[in-house]
Amino acid sequence: MKLKKVLSTVMIAGLLLTSLTGCASKPVAEEKTAPEVKKQIVIGFSMDTLKEERWQKDRDIFVAEAEKLGAKVLVQAANGDDSKQVEQAENLLAQGVDVLVVVPHNGKIAASIVESAHAENVPVLAYDRLVDGDVDYYISFDNEKVGELQADYVTKKLGITKGNFVYIGGAPTDNNALLFRAGAVKVLKSFPDIKIVYDQYSKDWQPSEAQKHMENALTATNNDVVAVIAANDGTAGGASAALAEQKLNIPLTGQDAEIAACQRIVEGTQSMTVFKPIQIIAENAAKIAVDMANGSEIKTTSTVKNSVKEVPSILLSPVVVDKDNMKEVIVDTGFHSEEDVYRNVQK
Ligand code: GAL
Repeated sequence: MKLKKVLSTVMIAGLLLTSLTGCASKPVAEEKTAPEVKKQIVIGFSMDTLKEERWQKDRDIFVAEAEKLGAKVLVQAANGDDSKQVEQAENLLAQGVDVLVVVPHNGKIAASIVESAHAENVPVLAYDRLVDGDVDYYISFDNEKVGELQADYVTKKLGITKGNFVYIGGAPTDNNALLFRAGAVKVLKSFPDIKIVYDQYSKDWQPSEAQKHMENALTATNNDVVAVIAANDGTAGGASAALAEQKLNIPLTGQDAEIAACQRIVEGTQSMTVFKPIQIIAENAAKIAVDMANGSEIKTTSTVKNSVKEVPSILLSPVVVDKDNMKEVIVDTGFHSEEDVYRNVQK
């Protein structure tokens, strides 16, 4: 009893002493002006793949902008492997990231990434592709509009309003691929004389799958196809190879303004592409990620419904590119150089 009392008296005295001396050694004015040491924000960027040209740009611009804002980015790419993407995201969380930005390979499976992040109080931004879970925010383009622009180009701009059409879609695991198709099919269905004779998704957006689809479609119709809506430039590349085998040159769409597609457009073997300014999505996403990490308010412009909620979203506008505006939209903005785009075109 006695010892306890002595000890507690000593402790209280000690506490008083430290707090008093603490006060004495720290003048009030000095305390106010002392610079706040702010912890550097760390962003985890979990990407499905870096295979297509665009994703490398997304990564580079995102990282550069985040670093400009004083943040650090840890990037992981899963090469289309769902369990790898989940594992990489867990790893980013274990490294203590303040916010997670996810381009899901499979939007449904990536919902578990959001659950793990939320368990650690880490907010999640879905980038370009929606996550089908309790994701906090989503930034992308108007993806249904992409499909509409492709089908509008062939039907309205090129005036092809009847005959056999082929639709070559992207990865069925990617919500965007479903939206691109929905937009295109909606337009094509409004023309009663258009027949969609072949309509398939391509696993993991593989150009080789798209090429097989195109070959199958040509065989099944005895080459009686008047136009091809390919969901992106990679799948358009596959379709274009199959058309070339049969010495066919018919309207063909794409998306992403990849260099190979821009070259095909100026050379006349692809009609158009849909350009989605990567600079704008990547820079905005970096800013939003930093704001999310800081707990600041995020201004969104719309919501997109997934199976869990209405996700607060920002949807940017896609732009049609063909040979007529290639220079203005792609070259003059520095997306690709004139030399690269027109490399195989005779001056
Ligand atoms: C989509 C994306 C497209 C295209 C495709 C293949 O989700 O919106 O721009 O790149 O993936 O990676």
